[in-house]
Amino acid sequence: MSALLEVKGLQVHYGGIQAVKGIDLDVHEGELVTLIGANGAGKTSTLNALSGLLKPAAGSITFAGQPLAGMPVHQLITAGLALVPEGRGVFPRLTVAENLAMGAYVRADQAEVRKDLDRMFGLFERLHERRDQKAGTLSGGEQQMLAIGRALMGRPRMLLLDEPSMGLAPLMVQKIIAVIRQVAAEGMTVLLVEQNARLALQAAQRAYVMEGGRISFSDTAHACLNDPRVRAAYLGE
Ligand SMILES: Nc1ncnc2c1ncn2[C@@H]1O[C@H](COP(=O)(O)OP(=O)(O)OP(=O)(O)O)[C@@H](O)[C@H]1O
Ligand SMILES: [Mg+2]
Repeated sequence: MSALLEVKGLQVHYGGIQAVKGIDLDVHEGELVTLIGANGAGKTSTLNALSGLLKPAAGSITFAGQPLAGMPVHQLITAGLALVPEGRGVFPRLTVAENLAMGAYVRADQAEVRKDLDRMFGLFERLHERRDQKAGTLSGGEQQMLAIGRALMGRPRMLLLDEPSMGLAPLMVQKIIAVIRQVAAEGMTVLLVEQNARLALQAAQRAYVMEGGRISFSDTAHACLNDPRVRAAYLGE
């Protein structure tokens, strides 16, 4: 079976800085895969190249059989790839409900959009309670939920999540991860970038470990959790 997302030899450069030095990575339909690695390993650069925010210096990105490398963001969204960026990027002066509606702006099926809105409020109880509140007044964790919900409102085929746990209190981190697992369990394909390796490995089926712009290790999440190198370098053991 071919992968939904297939990345080969991906390179990302910032001028003379080679942030991503030729990586291969696959995600199959319905999989929850994590990309872990330390500060500066190149995780965000990889996701930004996958989502069209950065133009790869080299390599191919194939999504659902279609070559995507170098395509503009709006075409990637239409193809079904949705990025929830680091730092979230909700619209602070719009309400929760308005932010969610923005996620569906490319869709014409209004009745289905309303159904999905209800589905989001079912998935994120907090957002339902705060539906008429301005997004800028939400807590960090609530904004993260909103950013995920907004991405889902576009009915993507795959979600790219950049460090959803960043800066959140432990209880909120657990909630966010539970939601990501539920979304994946319902069939969504997810690539989860995390610095919190333990958490990511507990949630994902497979993992890629990134170091200095390269994939240094890749296996099932279970095997990574038990690998002495991963444990020493990323799990503080
Ligand atoms: N806009 C930029 N201009 C120049 N160098 C950059 C830029 N963005 C990132 N880099 C460099 O590229 C490398 C990879 O950064 P990247 O943000 O992809 O790492 P990361 O794995 O996401 O790290 P973090 O865990 O801190 O988010 C780093 O050395 C970083 O300094
Ligand atoms: Mg990053």
